[in-house]
Amino acid sequence: MNITRHEHPASPSDPGFALVEAEAALWRGVVVDMFGDEDLADGPLARWSEGSRPSYFQHVRYAARTDDGRVVGVGTLELPQRDNLHRAGMSIVVDPAFRHAGVGTSLHAAMLDEARRGGRRTFEAFTWEPLEPTGPRRLSGVEGDGVIDPDGEPAAFLLGLGYRLVQVETLSGLDLPAQADLDRDVAEARAVVPEEYSLVQWRGVTPAEWRSDMAELQVAMSTDVPMGDADAEPSVVDPERVRSADESFLAGGRDLLFTAARHDPTGRLVAFTRLVHEQGRPVADQWETLVVQAHRGHGLGLLTKTANHAAVPEAWPDVRRLITGNASENRWMLAINRRLGYRPVAACGWFEHRLETP
Ligand SMILES: CC(C)(COP(=O)(O)OP(=O)(O)OC[C@H]1O[C@@H](n2cnc3c(N)ncnc32)[C@H](O)[C@@H]1OP(=O)(O)O)[C@@H](O)C(=O)NCCC(=O)NCCS
Repeated sequence: MNITRHEHPASPSDPGFALVEAEAALWRGVVVDMFGDEDLADGPLARWSEGSRPSYFQHVRYAARTDDGRVVGVGTLELPQRDNLHRAGMSIVVDPAFRHAGVGTSLHAAMLDEARRGGRRTFEAFTWEPLEPTGPRRLSGVEGDGVIDPDGEPAAFLLGLGYRLVQVETLSGLDLPAQADLDRDVAEARAVVPEEYSLVQWRGVTPAEWRSDMAELQVAMSTDVPMGDADAEPSVVDPERVRSADESFLAGGRDLLFTAARHDPTGRLVAFTRLVHEQGRPVADQWETLVVQAHRGHGLGLLTKTANHAAVPEAWPDVRRLITGNASENRWMLAINRRLGYRPVAACGWFEHRLETP
């Protein structure tokens, strides 16, 4: 088995993009094996775009190849460049036919070595998990009631390498209701929200006039949501980072749909939610929903979310289903999702490994 290091390809037309395609295919296999469909699998272009802004996140790949050159495992190391300089993201996938032979451990060792040499000391990794653990044992995060099977393949691998479970995320799916039902949900949500809030919607890159407010909301997204006891610092976000992040989604063949709530007396955006859709997929991902602390309790979470959902059929006529993830301890957001008809379909484990500091 050969382990080789690869810089992130500068463009999808670079020869190095083949490794991103191989990685996406391996992850697609993981998702299909677990859930029976591809709803949760990102395509190669979307995967590539996540490393396309090296001044924010540097991506480095390690490939495991057989002697005849076949890629049987890929690890991606993600190194934040603007904040959280002590952290590194690890993502490792191995062809099922080559598991339990040390490939994953070798990829991890190479990535850990590079990250440590670069001064990183906290490492995170995520796993797909079935909704109900299959084995007899249960492992929960530091908060919340979500559980996973510690003996499942990826969890056992990470626990064996010294990681611990920080948080269990619940993934839920919603078959998109008819437009009339979506509109009714918006009207009901609007009825309880004070008149001093109005809705602002946009698609694609955030308009310049809202980038500064969105930068502040993105920072709040890194401080005001449940994080277990993760060793993470607040994100550093400015209007330029908002623009560049949005553009990288579009470069990755994805589209964005935002609904925000403006507090009219101050003219500031105080809540937002976003849906992400990869071209050609019948699902869209419901990403963040955030209401800033001072404006909570007025129904803005439900209103922004219902209004964003109601805009989906016109924006993306092919989308049939929405998928969302929430920390299992985030009861407030889970309650909103259940009310909208989301049903849990899977879980996701967030693992962290901290090196001893001298
Ligand atoms: C998690 C994953 C990457 C592990 O890959 P792998 O190549 O099987 O990993 P390794 O072989 O190095 O280690 C896995 C297990 O095999 C054992 N092992 C290592 N070398 C071995 C060998 N020569 N013979 C037998 N077993 C071996 C390890 O000790 C470990 O067993 P343990 O957990 O009981 O201690 C793989 O299962 C996978 O791709 N899963 C889906 C993707 C995923 O969920 N990734 C999450 C991590 S980011």
